Amino acid sequence: MTDVAQWIDLSGKVAHVTGGAKGIGAGIATALSMAGAKVMISDINEGGAQDTAQQLGCSAMGLDVTDSTAVQKALETTRDQLGSLDILVNNAGVYQGYGGNVGDIDDDTWRTLWSINVDGLFYCCRAAASIMVEQGSGGRIINISSTQAVTPGVGVTYDGSKAAVAQITKALALELAPHKINVNALAPGPTWVQDGAAPEITGTPPNWTGNPLSDTVADRIARLPAGHWGDPIEQGKAALFLASDLSSFVTGIYLPCDGGWLTL
Ligand SMILES: NC(=O)c1ccc[n+]([C@@H]2O[C@H](COP(=O)([O-])OP(=O)(O)OC[C@H]3O[C@@H](n4cnc5c(N)ncnc54)[C@H](O)[C@@H]3O)[C@@H](O)[C@H]2O)c1
Repeated sequence: MTDVAQWIDLSGKVAHVTGGAKGIGAGIATALSMAGAKVMISDINEGGAQDTAQQLGCSAMGLDVTDSTAVQKALETTRDQLGSLDILVNNAGVYQGYGGNVGDIDDDTWRTLWSINVDGLFYCCRAAASIMVEQGSGGRIINISSTQAVTPGVGVTYDGSKAAVAQITKALALELAPHKINVNALAPGPTWVQDGAAPEITGTPPNWTGNPLSDTVADRIARLPAGHWGDPIEQGKAALFLASDLSSFVTGIYLPCDGGWLTL
């Protein structure tokens, strides 16, 4: 009988996690490290990345994903310093302060969010794909989308960017499958990334209104079937599935990890 532990063993694999200084990225870096991968955390907040890396016993570097030249160099440096590049997690992204009604969103707000959430993700996918194809040993690319790609709530800027991430993922999965590079999107639901413990969710039981768009994000969180906020390590567990041999035949999917958000 096969030892299932070997399916999640990432010993000998190298992972790069963007935006890994805190929040979901730190949760994913934790899970991949626990499974034995050598992990490089990058973040525009270099000090935060160094602190998190020190706690996990992994590596760190400063990186602004909107700088395509720096992205190429960062992924080559990961390969050169750690020996290969087998797993890329495109987690860097922004949403706080980018919501609102369409008429209130100025050009800078739109452009800034898309340059991080979409352009940056594309630069990282492009650089990683060329390195992985050249290595010839397959690979995994995990793009962090959101449940907002399916159920709008934050606003056109963010919701649109995360839907773009889901479709970029599919297109890339098709293109890279012959190289044994699996490309999947992970779609977190509400996950507590602020300082301090997640507050209790006390709401009424799920109540289908027939019109999800009539719900606000707050309404939906109050009715979250799981009854608790997601913890970043729960996103890490889902990312581990996509990064490991457990998902050897899985590519091009959009995987919600959302406590039932999309059932509402
Ligand atoms: N927290 C949630 O409920 C939730 C739900 C769905 C999707 N997401 C997605 O998960 C990802 C992580 O979000 P989070 O909640 O952990 O946020 P967070 O703010 O806690 O962490 C994001 C990290 O990205 C970094 N970052 C921002 N701009 C960057 C840039 N230009 N280059 C490199 N790094 C940059 C930040 O410094 C920060 O460390 C994002 O893509 C977000 O859209 C989060």
